[in-house]
Amino acid sequence: MSDISDVSLSGHISVLYQEFLEYFPISTEKQNVIVDATLGMGWHARGILSQMKKGDIFIGFDADIRNLSRVQPVLENEFSQKGIQLHFIRDNFVHMKSRLEEKGIHAITGIYYDLWLSSLHVDEGERGFSFRYDAPLDMRFDTSLPLRASDVVNTYSQKQLQDIFQKYGEDPQSAKISHIIVEKRHSGKILTTKQLSEIIETVSPFPKTKMRIFQALRIEVNSELHNLETSLLHAIDMLQSEGHIFVISFHSLEDRIVKHILREEKKKQQKDIFGNTPQKQLQLLTKKPLIPTTEEIQKNPRSKSAKARCAKKI
Ligand SMILES: C[S@@+](CC[C@H](N)C(=O)[O-])C[C@H]1O[C@@H](n2cnc3c(N)ncnc32)[C@H](O)[C@@H]1O
Repeated sequence: MSDISDVSLSGHISVLYQEFLEYFPISTEKQNVIVDATLGMGWHARGILSQMKKGDIFIGFDADIRNLSRVQPVLENEFSQKGIQLHFIRDNFVHMKSRLEEKGIHAITGIYYDLWLSSLHVDEGERGFSFRYDAPLDMRFDTSLPLRASDVVNTYSQKQLQDIFQKYGEDPQSAKISHIIVEKRHSGKILTTKQLSEIIETVSPFPKTKMRIFQALRIEVNSELHNLETSLLHAIDMLQSEGHIFVISFHSLEDRIVKHILREEKKKQQKDIFGNTPQKQLQLLTKKPLIPTTEEIQKNPRSKSAKARCAKKI
């Protein structure tokens, strides 16, 4: 097996890899049923698969057909001889529960998420995720879905645009940028990352502003926050006792959702008529989020904003 900490498959370097292996146990005795919700280039998966044994089940999800079709044959080639049952599903993790049930899988012993996009998405400019390349304004992880970033930019009202820029980009210039977008689109559709970048530059020259607006559009196009919340709740439902859930996120909006769900904040607010709160389902194993070391950030600057949280089903 390759040295995972130094190797990047097609440009993607795994984040918080050692911490993940430390917090995410694989049983040497009982059957493991493990879900990788965001397979990507499969580096985290390799670390897990190399510990799994005959009779275990591994299911890898990725919404992106291109990532999945690159990684699936590599992992099948490396691990199917071990007698591990491997399943690869091209779908959004929001559909995880029903897709697993279709396969007769009703309970899992572990699940992990490595959110955000793979470096591949950013480096292959034509997907429209990055303002560093001129490309169609697309931003879909799952290219079979209808909503593209250009649809959002060209059809949402000024108020809707301002709301998503504020909520998902937390950008202080949201009102100005949404006004200018609506004004500019009177003279023709905004269809490329370059057109959008130039419009944003008329309000702010700082790359940070572009980054926030692009992030907001990506979150909207892929319903990222809603899907994350739904999927985490389904995952916790499906986890067997002692099963682990490990989540790596890359921005505060995601981490807020992960923290809220793994700490079971909602339950703390619910009381029955006797004033009792519902029983906890999870034991939080990371009181504070795990973050990359200075060494990891030096090797892989993209890891800088990563935070990981882990919990165990009681
Ligand atoms: C950061 S990468 C994962 C990297 C992976 N852990 C590795 O070691 O190579 C995230 C992957 O998740 C996929 N993805 C993002 N959101 C998703 C979702 N809601 N459902 C399924 N896959 C998703 C992306 O297409 C991307 O391939």
